[in-house]
Amino acid sequence: MSHYTSNSKFWATICLGMLAMTSWLLAHPNHDERGLLLHLVASGHPIKNETVADETHNITAKLIGKPKVVTLGPTEAFAFDGKQDYLLLSDKIDEVKKVLPVKEMTVMAWVNLQNIDQEWGGIVGAFQDNGNSEQGWVLGYNDGRFMFGLASQGANDGDGNMTYLRAKDSIETGRWYHVVATYDGQLLRLFINGKLANESKAQSGDILYPTKAQYVVGGYIDQDEKFLLNGAVREVKLYSRVIPETELQQLVTKNQNLLDFQGPVSGELRFVVTPYLQAGSTTSMSIMCETNHPSQMLVEYGRQVPLTERIVSKSNARINRVNLNNLEPGMQYFYRVTCSAGTGTIPVTSELLSLQTDRGPTQAWSFGIIGDTQRNPEITRKCAEGIYSHRPNMVIHCGDVVDDGYAKNQWIKDLFEPMAKLNGRVPLFPTIGNHEKNSHWYYDYFHLPEPEYYYTFTYGNAQFFMIDSNKSLKPDSEQYVWLEKQLKQSKATWKFTCHHHPCFSSDENDYGDHVKGEYKRPATWGDPNAQQLVPLYEKYGIDIAFNGHVHIYERTWPIMQMAINQQRGVRYITSGGGGGGLEDAAPQRTWFMHHFKRAYHYCTATIHDRTIQFKAYDIEDRLFDTFELTKPAGR
Ligand SMILES: [Fe+2]
Ligand SMILES: [Fe+2]
Repeated sequence: MSHYTSNSKFWATICLGMLAMTSWLLAHPNHDERGLLLHLVASGHPIKNETVADETHNITAKLIGKPKVVTLGPTEAFAFDGKQDYLLLSDKIDEVKKVLPVKEMTVMAWVNLQNIDQEWGGIVGAFQDNGNSEQGWVLGYNDGRFMFGLASQGANDGDGNMTYLRAKDSIETGRWYHVVATYDGQLLRLFINGKLANESKAQSGDILYPTKAQYVVGGYIDQDEKFLLNGAVREVKLYSRVIPETELQQLVTKNQNLLDFQGPVSGELRFVVTPYLQAGSTTSMSIMCETNHPSQMLVEYGRQVPLTERIVSKSNARINRVNLNNLEPGMQYFYRVTCSAGTGTIPVTSELLSLQTDRGPTQAWSFGIIGDTQRNPEITRKCAEGIYSHRPNMVIHCGDVVDDGYAKNQWIKDLFEPMAKLNGRVPLFPTIGNHEKNSHWYYDYFHLPEPEYYYTFTYGNAQFFMIDSNKSLKPDSEQYVWLEKQLKQSKATWKFTCHHHPCFSSDENDYGDHVKGEYKRPATWGDPNAQQLVPLYEKYGIDIAFNGHVHIYERTWPIMQMAINQQRGVRYITSGGGGGGLEDAAPQRTWFMHHFKRAYHYCTATIHDRTIQFKAYDIEDRLFDTFELTKPAGR
C-alpha cells in the first residue's frame, strides 16, 4: 500500500515556517516567465471538481485515479500512488499543440519519488516509444536515474528517433529533486538540482511530435506502456525557450529547504541489504548493512549466546557500518544486527549470524574466488552458494561486481541479494572492474583499506595485492610504484595479486584475433595496461595473479619472461564466470594456455604452509580443474 493512503501522519509533517517561505517564493517568482506554456503547482488548493487548473490558463488537467494534494515536509505536492493516479493534460495531442514547445523548450519539475523499482517512470511528457518508432518528449526516470527523452526532425529516421539522456547518479527515494531538461534545437541537456547531469547533440531541429499521444503528468504513458509514478510532484513548468543554467541554479538555491528535507520514517524499517562482512583480519571485522531509511546500527556479538557485547554505529545512515576490534584470532563469534530509525518506528533485527577471524599464518585456511557477477542474479546465487558450500575463510572478487556501477538497484538485487548468505558469514574482498565505472557506490558499499581502488591485506600466510587495472599501470604510475614498494617489504609465504583485466588471456575478441565477425586482428593475448605489471610479478615472485573481465575460466602455465617455466613461473588465473554473459577462446590455442573453460564457475584455494590446492567448479558443483603445488623452502 502506498504511503499516501496508508499513513496520514507521514503527510502531516508540516514545517509551517518553511511552508510559508516556499509559498511566498512560489507567489513571487523573480525569474522571467516568458514563454511559459504550462504551470501546475500543488499549493493553494488547486484541485476542483476532479480537475487541476494550470496557472497559465492554457490547460485544465483531469484527475485520473485519486491523486491528492498532501504536505510533504516543507511543501505541498500532488501525491500519486503508482497504481492508478496521474494527471491527464490532454489525450488529443492535436488540441494542445499550440501550447507544446516546438523549436526550444525547458521542462522542470520538483519531484519526490517513493518507489523506483519499476524500470521506467514518467514525470511529464507527450510521446510514443514503440519499438523503433519514437516521437515527442518525456521527463522521467529509468533504471533508478532521472532521464529525459526527446525526438526531433533532425534525427528523424522515418518514424522518429529518440535520445534518452540519463543522469549518472541514482535517485534516493523520499528526497526532493529539481529535475530540468532543456533543448535549444541543437543541444539536449538534463539538470539535476541545478547541476548539469548529462547532455547530447544527437538531436537537432524542431521537436517531432507523434500524431497520437497522451500529454500527462505522473506517468510514462504511450501506446503500449503505462508506468505510473509513485511519489509526489510539487510543481511542473514547461517553457517554449531555454532557461539559462544560472537561473536554474538560483531556483534550486532558493529552495534549499526542499533539498535538505529528509522524509519522516513511515511504515516499516527494513533491510535493503542484509548484514555483510568486510575487512576481516585476525583481530577485527567490519559489519555493514543498508536500511530503507537512515538508521542507527547496533551489533550485539559474543563467543556464545546470549550475546554479551554491544556496539553501535556513530551516526544514522542508510548504508551503515560497525567495526568490531580486539577480537581473538581464529575464533568464531555470533552476531546479530538491529537497526533503528528513532521514535515511531519498529527496529529491524537480522537473524543470528556468525563470523570467524583469521587464524593467522601458521594454520590451514581457504579462500573463494568469483568474478564478473554483473547482472545475472540466479547464476551469482549458484556461484555464491557453491563457494559457501566449501566454507572458505574469505572470498575475493575479480571485479565487475555489477553491470552498471551507477545503478543502485543492481548493487542490491544483483550483487548483495544473491550473495547474502555467503557475505553474512564470510568477508568479501573486491577489486574494481570497468563496469563499476568508478561509481561512488563501490566506495559506499565496500569498506577497504585506503584508497580502496587499490589496497593490500594479509590473510593466513598470504598477502594479497588488489589493483585497479582501469587506471594506468605504467612503471611510474601511482599503483606500480606502490606495488613495488609493498612487494619489496612483503614477508608472506604466498603472494597473490588480483585485478580485473588479465595479463594473459586466450580469449577471442577482447585481446584475441577476432574483430567484427572475422579472425584477422593481431592479438595482444592480454591487457596491455595490466601486462606492464608482469616484470614486477616475476621479480618479486607472485604465486598467482587472479583476474576477471573475460567471462570464462582460464589457467596459464607458470610463465617467466614470456616462456613456460615450471620452477619459477607466475600462474595467471582468469575467473570471470560469476554471471556476465559467457565469452569464448580464440580458435587457436595460445602458447601459455593450460586449461580453458567456457562456463559459469567459481574457484577455491586451500592453503597449508607451503602447499596450495586450487580447484575450479561449475555451477553444478562439478570440479573441472585443479592443481596442487608445494613450494620449495626459500621461494
Ligand atoms: Fe565483465
Ligand atoms: Fe570487465
